[in-house]
Amino acid sequence: MHGFDDDTEKLAQEIVELALERIRMSPPPLDGPRKASVLQGIVGETISSTGIGAEKALQLFFNVLARSCTTLSHPRNFAAVPSAPTNESVLFDLMVSAASIFGGAWAGGAGAIFAENQVLRWLADEAGFPETAGGTFVQGGTLGILSALVAGRTKAQAARQGDAPKVWKIAVSAEAHFATAESARVMGCEILELPVDANHRVTGELLRETLSAADTDGLFAVVASAGTTNLGAIDDLDGIAQVCEERGLWFHVDGAYGFPGILAPSTRHLFMGIARADSFVVDPHKWLFSPYDACALVYRDIEDGSRAHAYSDVYITALHPEPVDPREEFDPKNYAVQLSRRARGLPLWFSLAANGTAAYANAVEKTLGVARSAAEEIRRRDYLELLMDPTLTVIVFKRIGWQMKDYLALNKRLFTSEIAWFMPTVVDGEPVARLITVNPGTTLGDFNTVFDAMR
Ligand SMILES: Cc1ncc(COP(=O)(O)O)c(C=O)c1O
Repeated sequence: MHGFDDDTEKLAQEIVELALERIRMSPPPLDGPRKASVLQGIVGETISSTGIGAEKALQLFFNVLARSCTTLSHPRNFAAVPSAPTNESVLFDLMVSAASIFGGAWAGGAGAIFAENQVLRWLADEAGFPETAGGTFVQGGTLGILSALVAGRTKAQAARQGDAPKVWKIAVSAEAHFATAESARVMGCEILELPVDANHRVTGELLRETLSAADTDGLFAVVASAGTTNLGAIDDLDGIAQVCEERGLWFHVDGAYGFPGILAPSTRHLFMGIARADSFVVDPHKWLFSPYDACALVYRDIEDGSRAHAYSDVYITALHPEPVDPREEFDPKNYAVQLSRRARGLPLWFSLAANGTAAYANAVEKTLGVARSAAEEIRRRDYLELLMDPTLTVIVFKRIGWQMKDYLALNKRLFTSEIAWFMPTVVDGEPVARLITVNPGTTLGDFNTVFDAMR
């Protein structure tokens, strides 16, 4: 298993060839899930004392298991938040595995961490963060938000010098992704729910009003969305930053999906105020064209991260017997809820280094453009009704006369025939169709396929 012989060579060729076959497909099939009992019938038991052999396991994966996963990068995958990794990022992901890098500490992954940190610096610069900024790549937005909020609470705890409130609280709107509510639950915090305006945004004014009427003892953080999952709405970041500064609250921006909109000239202005945040996250596996999984967590002051997350144990003190300058030897483990870590920022690093940041800005602008064209197309069709102009790349609209069951039935038909996948949602109490793209390969024709099917 560990020596490299002729069989390994043959297996390597086969795996690389099959991976290439998949990458060459343009587009790959949409595929979709099968029930476990169906898979059990086709695949049978694969784990046994003697093994089934690499050849059989590989064929099972390529022909059955991989085909029983939905292709998030399909151009007509309009559901949840899909994905659209570049060729460079996917190919380089193979290299990251082959290099077997421990990305948790500089001693194990210096070169990889150095490259990742250049990407984090680019993101920090786009946000307008100062030189003190920095962060780490974690598994996903949920873990990034949790880690940022733990940093915020650590700061608040220090400020109260042991005078703990009855309960710590986090302010966020119901439009925000449930990752914040999940983080609050894990941290034993309460949610203070913020209202939104007619455009589904939290504004500085609404925040100020809400906080002056609420019991804010223990409130330590406000989470704003820079691109809600449901609608792509961007909160009034500047107004919220103002209130957070006045009240000494940690200001976190959830840009897991929407942050890349800052790269596009047409939407950059919507992010005004993000430079005043204490932390933000963005998921490269969403709209930064990387494979699963990665979340960039960036602190405005990197030391806020280490004050909350730096820890040690006897077996690990040998990493740094003497204190080190984190600008020279940076340990990602000290900045989030993590220790062992895949260097999951590397696929993005390679693709960015290869293609340049301008290519990323263009690709993001392209997806914004196709979303706007799709919105125009909806306006042209008399049986459809656009609910609002898309802020980013989420489009919500009604098929006149339809109920939730009609959207679900159409989606089932399109999905099971591998034509498209979308998820209806509810806006202001009404069931509506929701289509999102982050894929520069998605065309107006792809959207029209769904619109036509609704006729
Ligand atoms: C706005 C937003 N925040 C957070 C998350 C959670 O991110 P992850 O799924 O990477 O944990 C998502 C996921 O879709 C999201 O859209």
